[in-house]
Amino acid sequence: MTGTIAPSSTRRGLHVITWGCQMNVYDSARMSDVLRPLGYQPVDLPDAADMIILNTCHIRDKAAEKVFSELGRLRLIKEARAAEGQPTVIAVAGCVAQAEGQEILRRAPYVDIVLGPQTYHRLPEMVARAARAGGAVIDTDFPAEQKFDFLPDTEAPQTPGNLTSFLTIQEGCDKFCSFCVVPYTRGAESSRRVASVLAEARRMAQSGVRDITLLGQNVNAYHGEGENGEIWDLPRLAYALAEIPGLSRIRYMTSHPRDMTDALIDAHRDLPQLMPFLHLPVQAGSDRVLTAMNRGHTADEYREIVRKLRAVRPDLALSSDFIVGHPGETDEDFEATMQLVRDVKFALAYSFKYSQRPGTPAAGAPLQVPEHVKDTRLQALQALLREQQDEFNATLVGKTFPVLFTGEGRKPGQITGRSPWLQPVHVLGPRHLIGQELSVKITERLTNSLSGELVEETEYA
Ligand code: 5AD
Ligand code: SF4
Repeated sequence: MTGTIAPSSTRRGLHVITWGCQMNVYDSARMSDVLRPLGYQPVDLPDAADMIILNTCHIRDKAAEKVFSELGRLRLIKEARAAEGQPTVIAVAGCVAQAEGQEILRRAPYVDIVLGPQTYHRLPEMVARAARAGGAVIDTDFPAEQKFDFLPDTEAPQTPGNLTSFLTIQEGCDKFCSFCVVPYTRGAESSRRVASVLAEARRMAQSGVRDITLLGQNVNAYHGEGENGEIWDLPRLAYALAEIPGLSRIRYMTSHPRDMTDALIDAHRDLPQLMPFLHLPVQAGSDRVLTAMNRGHTADEYREIVRKLRAVRPDLALSSDFIVGHPGETDEDFEATMQLVRDVKFALAYSFKYSQRPGTPAAGAPLQVPEHVKDTRLQALQALLREQQDEFNATLVGKTFPVLFTGEGRKPGQITGRSPWLQPVHVLGPRHLIGQELSVKITERLTNSLSGELVEETEYA
């Protein structure tokens, strides 16, 4: 199933619509890479596309319904193009495809290809098969081979000229949190080989990427095979990545508290390239709920990890995910979540109402929390998290830190970049500084960004 398909010089339009997490963004870029040798080039509008890919997300409510409503719109485009003699291939990829592939073909028979997250290296074959068969092709296997071994090397991964990039190093999850579909849609935890990761990181650095985010559903569970068959963990990989010239900023997400080892914490002490901003979802602050969620750690164990991280990297800021209204969550449990937030203080957080995901253990659990209770809890939690985000941003005013300049600002003469904690930062400065990392003194906090002034026009060392 992974044979080569002859390259084509015929130019074809490709339009990819991406929902969900950063890994889907990365996957969409790699699907475009894999189709490029067949002549597919990105186009902005679906009407101009010979192939349209919906890369879907199944993590929370109504994901599948969104896909079906988008498909309804695409059907009209496909029909209008067909009337002009132009065929359109519609492919549905990602986690909804994995979970509901047959249902998609039943409800939307005009879909040509359904593929899961683990099979996109086979996309060229599927395109060829769909053209030959004239019927739908579905491939939602969890193949034994690693798709990364069959993907083409990209000269300039993702958008050329980018200073920031994602790099997937790990996929899937064996943790089986009670509420989560990921172990079912992305499959078992698997890590990409070290050589393949390092080679892609070097290519990215050579094409100008300075700020790299390693991706994985359980990124800090990374255990990739090295050249000699030995297993590398994430800290070892981070030390090796830090040697690559040009990669001045390294991030990783999403981490699980259980895999936040002392060696990884030490890497934060040793490597200035590891950015002081960590996404470490805790989900809830009550031990009873954490047990029901099958998270495998207590609230105090989470506090202890944060304490250790801040001890080695005092400027480290945290972001997190929270779920309110997991089955069985009482007012007291929710108060324990609020207390954890007050204790830890987050720079950023994403919070959600628990949503029942078919096939997950919590979906059938008794004591589902009523919607209005979830609403009230979510509002209270979000108000507190917003306050903490504001407080964090306020602490940056008056500070000087390196900003990686990535583009022009909205106002004339302005350039814009990002802080180590990912806030957009605007300064007045010449365009030729774009691409450099320079010291900026923050003078003002705006609604969603910071503004400041260049301390000196020398590259930050
Ligand atoms: N309901 C609500 N939120 C969920 N998440 C995952 N599954 C669910 C669910 N069933 C949230 C978790 C996770 C983030 C990516 O999405 O907080 O960390
Ligand atoms: Fe889902 Fe839990 Fe795995 Fe994260 S650790 S992907 S929340 S099952």
